[in-house]
Amino acid sequence: MCGIVGYVGYRKAYPIIISGLKRLEYRGYDSAGVALYDGKIKIYKKKGKVSELEKLTKDKDTEGTIGMGHTRWATHGAPSDENSHPHVSNSGNFSIIHNGIIENYSTLKKELLGRGYTFNSATDTEVLVNFIEDIYENNEIDATEAVRIALNNVIGAYGIVVMCKAEPEKLIVARRSSPIAIGVGEGEFIIASDATPIVEHTKDVVYLNDNEIAVITKEGYKVLNLKNESQTPYIHTIEMELEALEKGGYDHFMLKEIFEQPRSIADSIRGRIDPENKKVWLGGLVDVRKELAQAKRFIFVACGTSWHAGLVGEYLFEEHIRIPVEVEYASEFRYRNPVIQEGDIVIAISQSGETADTLAAINLAKERGALVLGICNVVGSSISRATHAGVYTHAGPEIGVASTKAFTAQVSVLTMMALFIADLKGKLTPKSRSIIPEMLQVPEKVRHIVNQSDKIKEIAATFKDSPNCLYLGRGSNFPVALEGALKLKEISYIHAEGYPAAEMKHGPIALIDENMPVIFIATKDESYEKIVSNIEEVAARKGRVVAIVTEGDTAVRNIAEFVIEIPEIDPSLMPLLSVIPLQILSYHIAVMRNCNVDQPRNLAKSVTVE
Ligand code: AGP
Ligand code: GLU
Repeated sequence: MCGIVGYVGYRKAYPIIISGLKRLEYRGYDSAGVALYDGKIKIYKKKGKVSELEKLTKDKDTEGTIGMGHTRWATHGAPSDENSHPHVSNSGNFSIIHNGIIENYSTLKKELLGRGYTFNSATDTEVLVNFIEDIYENNEIDATEAVRIALNNVIGAYGIVVMCKAEPEKLIVARRSSPIAIGVGEGEFIIASDATPIVEHTKDVVYLNDNEIAVITKEGYKVLNLKNESQTPYIHTIEMELEALEKGGYDHFMLKEIFEQPRSIADSIRGRIDPENKKVWLGGLVDVRKELAQAKRFIFVACGTSWHAGLVGEYLFEEHIRIPVEVEYASEFRYRNPVIQEGDIVIAISQSGETADTLAAINLAKERGALVLGICNVVGSSISRATHAGVYTHAGPEIGVASTKAFTAQVSVLTMMALFIADLKGKLTPKSRSIIPEMLQVPEKVRHIVNQSDKIKEIAATFKDSPNCLYLGRGSNFPVALEGALKLKEISYIHAEGYPAAEMKHGPIALIDENMPVIFIATKDESYEKIVSNIEEVAARKGRVVAIVTEGDTAVRNIAEFVIEIPEIDPSLMPLLSVIPLQILSYHIAVMRNCNVDQPRNLAKSVTVE
């Protein structure tokens, strides 16, 4: 999920790799490393910024016209020098850098341990490099064939560069889900996770496709697929400016991250559900299964968007596990002298893993004897280390201050946790179980919604100057209404409130007039008829209704001013879809109001102070 740079050509590789890694710093990372070859492979790697790596290599031998560099966004194994890339196989013959997640790494690791392999890191990547070695050592094949055979037996996502001491003149590059670009220069090639480190050297770029391998030397390159069939690569000419490239061609990181959600949701689910057997497997909770099975109550503690995810979690946990759930603002919980009893499990939710209020709530809960779990997006973050166990969201770095893909990744993890715990308690009903395979449909359905961005932009133009806005939903769409309101507030500075739709008649309906936009989440579920009545109440008072509806809905279309149709899905999974149009709507309104979308005024990405 982070940064790769490789070089092979006639120039010194090191400065090109380092400046390339710095071009990729916008992606967020926790450690960096480099491998260089000139007669021997030299590896330097370190936790921390690329500048730390530069300090490490200051007086070292960095000669060589072939090499590779990596910035790590940890998924398996906390940020540390040992877990940094490149990783080297036991014999020292193979070195690798990797972006992505090897899902079946633990199975492969068990086999390799049985064959006497040893490991210096906790990463899935070190397993892959020794798997390649094992295949190479046990067959009369070259390095590329060993990589190809290994990748045919790997489950998961990868962008990799492999160097082999026995074949030092080449870089072996491969991709599945984690992008790899190859810059085709004059007598040189620059490999990278995206074109950003490449454009200053050449505008001619080949983008590897999934399940392709490229073998690159300074004389040239060839591309083959995993069936060993050679491929004819297409050379693109990049026209984008550097800044646009950093945002993947999107105008803002927030929009890029909204559009990344099909992949980030897929990554949060990856390797954790077995659709055939309708099972969920959360490796991070294996050691606390007994406590989970005996849990009597769950208490979510979080802030902001993560608190909204906790509210969705309340609906999910109470629906599937059938035990009580509390959702607490961490900032309130930490000072409220909360009652924590035997059988209570506290779950802290945090994208950054550094939010001070949430950390304080965790420490208080631990002092009171509770088991504390974490749901974090940053491996090795303070909160992930302060909790007894937990589940990472694997959404990848979230750069925009307004949280989008982290929210849907958190809700994906909460959905899986609810099903996993219900199963542990022997309470998983056939209806709940049917949701497990349906989760695999979510990424494609989200893609269908993000592709409506231009249509939603037209609606945004109507309301961009509204001073206020109401968001209304029922059931687990009520927290989504809160989240939609927060998104609008924090990036467009329009005052917005989320409310349970039924609560309107207890006061807020007094606000309705022809100047009040009201965003309804009115997707098909057991409260649908009631929310249609709420829409009629608002329309009767000339409120400006925008409704998020299930595809094919005609009833609401006749009473709302605007409708945004989203695909049908089990109501348990609907928050994953219904939030997407609200993210997009707030984004377009903020842009039309010339707000600083990625860094809104007064806000920080991680609130590490009280
Ligand atoms: C959400 O868009 C905001 N950036 C903010 O509310 C955020 O969710 C909150 O500060 C919690 O951050 P955390 O998830 O990193 O703990
Ligand atoms: N899964 C690998 C690790 O945790 C690679 C992470 C990345 O994409 O940077 O080291």
